[in-house]
Amino acid sequence: MGRARYDGIADWYDTEFQPAPLESETWETLVRLLEDAPGALIDIGCGTGAYSAGLAGLGWTVTGVDVSEDMLRRAAAKGVRTVHTDASALPFEDGSFDAAISVFTHTDVDDFTNLVREVVRVLRPGSPFVYVGAHPCFVGPHSVYDVERKAPELHPDWYRKTGRYDEAPGIWRGSGVRIRVGASHLPLGLFLQTFLDAGLRLERIEEPAEREYSFALASRWRR
Ligand SMILES: C[S@@+](CC[C@H](N)C(=O)[O-])C[C@H]1O[C@@H](n2cnc3c(N)ncnc32)[C@H](O)[C@@H]1O
Repeated sequence: MGRARYDGIADWYDTEFQPAPLESETWETLVRLLEDAPGALIDIGCGTGAYSAGLAGLGWTVTGVDVSEDMLRRAAAKGVRTVHTDASALPFEDGSFDAAISVFTHTDVDDFTNLVREVVRVLRPGSPFVYVGAHPCFVGPHSVYDVERKAPELHPDWYRKTGRYDEAPGIWRGSGVRIRVGASHLPLGLFLQTFLDAGLRLERIEEPAEREYSFALASRWRR
């Protein structure tokens, strides 16, 4: 595996971009949706491991996987068991985990279809997969974040364009993360269909109200 997009920004990500993840609505939503009894859990695209470490604190036995060694360095420093791997080919046996989470990854991975297929493969039948990520309707190549209004200005002509959009108008300038690593987009229908096509059943879907517009979409799926 060569250099990953997040290599070199892990310290910034952990200290400046996301300094208090366990005080966020993402964390509150994640814990609430993950209502099963603790067991072996895989965090796909765990990054600097904030949520992995938080869930370990709640009794889960967590494995965090990511393509960025730099991000994993910070996760390991939080005590997370880390595995350096591409999510589209996980080095685990079928049915190895009792639960899976993935947080803000569909906007980063090159192959979300294979990520979800791999989640299904490594989950024990009956297990939950909680996904929290950017809301495809309001974050993407069609959405230009207006820092002053704290809201997106939408350009519908870009909405149906899938894949990476480093050159599109909607690079989110507010946080600076997309300027650094670029982004990928799936319109809402394709996004949801990816989970359904992998054989998952939708149990919960929520739009966390952290901001006035729906910045995030959270869902719990069942294998
Ligand atoms: C926006 S960060 C989210 C990190 C963490 N889940 C969080 O919420 O703090 C996206 C993460 O996905 C990882 N990633 C991107 N492509 C990946 C892939 N193919 N396999 C595994 N991880 C990947 C990146 O390295 C990065 O750490």
